[in-house]
Order: sequence, then structure tokens, then C-alpha cells
Amino acid sequence: MELAMFGELQYWLLCKLWPIKTIDTQPHGEEKLATFIKPIDPTFGRLEGLDVLDFGCGDGNESIALSRCARSVIGLDINPKWIEIARAKAQRAGVSNVEFTTKLDRKVDAVISIDAFEHFEDPKQILEMMHDALRPGGIVIASFGPTWYHPYGGHLFSAFPWAHLLCSERALLKWRNRFRDGKAQSLKQGMNGWSISRFERTIRDSPFTVEQFDCVPINSLRRIHCRLTREITTSIVQMRVRKT
Ligand SMILES: C[S@@+](CC[C@H](N)C(=O)[O-])C[C@H]1O[C@@H](n2cnc3c(N)ncnc32)[C@H](O)[C@@H]1O
Repeated sequence: MELAMFGELQYWLLCKLWPIKTIDTQPHGEEKLATFIKPIDPTFGRLEGLDVLDFGCGDGNESIALSRCARSVIGLDINPKWIEIARAKAQRAGVSNVEFTTKLDRKVDAVISIDAFEHFEDPKQILEMMHDALRPGGIVIASFGPTWYHPYGGHLFSAFPWAHLLCSERALLKWRNRFRDGKAQSLKQGMNGWSISRFERTIRDSPFTVEQFDCVPINSLRRIHCRLTREITTSIVQMRVRKT
């Protein structure tokens, strides 16, 4: 009873102090590729003749941008709603070498994945799927975050820094569901809650050869960013791994 009241009080405070959740406008398409993928792979852009997989493609903007330089692009997403939206976008853009699917059935030369690893329920299994999908020598270039201990690691539950770790699940769910359509059932819905260390261990234990695993600091916390503080001071994780 007391706990429930505490949750109600938290909910009331959240609504008073943060009546709406502003969503940061992010770059997309070419700009997103240039911001998040190009810095990881110096050869990026030289995709002519390559078949590329965009894993967790969402509404397909980056797959469509990639299709302008790759031989072919597969945009893969678990959510059929995004696949439909992405297909319509590709049709409007008039590109014919990109396809969107929820099931993977072909081999590719390269995999990119943007802002998706922190959403994969089982990243270990996704790495195995990526490994299976790649031809020998193929690479995975991925950029993801914010991860769970980042101040805004709760994504849409991030009313204020670390709200997802400090507030009760009940209060945050009620607060978030005020202004989002898809009524969330749990705080971790769509997010795996993994620490950076867990990601790193899993990636290093995977069948891939790790060529790069970098934690890019949050600008304002650059000075205190180190291995010890990286869980809370990392803006995004960038990685490049290869199937040997
Ligand atoms: C934050 S969105 C990023 C979309 C896009 N890459 C972008 O940068 O805008 C994460 C995407 O990963 C997808 N996703 C989550 N789990 C997945 C899985 N197991 N397989 C494929 N896609 C998945 C979600 O449906 C969602 O569209």
C-alpha cells in the first residue's frame, strides 16, 4: 500500500516536472551514415560491388542511402511495421537494389547496424546470425547507444538523467504511456539493459575477430572518461569486427 502510494507520488512529480518527453531530432540517411558509420570504417563508401545487410534497419532511411553505393542492400528488422514503412520509402525513392525483410536468407559481404544493439534482446544470438550471414572476410560495422548506464540509457523513459534507474517502474510506465501510443508493459521493453562490459565480453567471446571496440565519450564528460567511468560517460559504442 505504502509502496503503491510512493509510486503514485513519483508519477505525480514526473508529470509536474517533465510534462512532456522531447525527442531529440537525429540525423538520418546519408547524414547518419556519415556520423555513425564512416568514422568506424576508413573504407566505408567503397561499397561498390558489395552486398550489404542493415541489421535493425527501422524505417529504412540508412538502407536506402546505402543502396546508392552498394550492389545490393537488405534491410532487416524484427518489426513488420517498419518493414512496410521502409518498403514504401524505397518505392518513393525509386531505388531497386534494396529489399526489406524480417527474415534473412542470403549471404552478404558487410553488415552495418546503427542504434540497434542496445535494443536486441539477445545480442549474442544476433552476433551469431551476423556471422552466419557473412561471407568469409566480411565485416560488421556497428554503432550503438546510449547503453543502459548512460544518463539517458532509459531512452523514452529518460525523463531526467538516470530516471530509469532511480524511479519506480510503475511511475515511469504510467508517465511514458501518457504520450506514447504503443503502451509499454515494462521498462526494459525493447531494451536489453546490457552494460558496456557485458557487450565487450560477448563480442570478444564471439566467433569474430575484433578490429575495433571504442567507447566515444559524452562531450561534456570527456575529461573524466576512462575505463573505470565508461559505463556512465560513454555516448556511443563503435565497433568493427571481421569474420575470418
Ligand atoms: C532504434 S531502432 C534503429 C533503427 C535504425 N537502424 C536507425 O538507426 O534509425 C532499433 C531497431 O532494431 C530493431 N530490432 C530490435 N530487435 C531486433 C531483432 N532481434 N532483429 C532485427 N531487428 C531488431 C527494432 O525493431 C528497431 O527498428
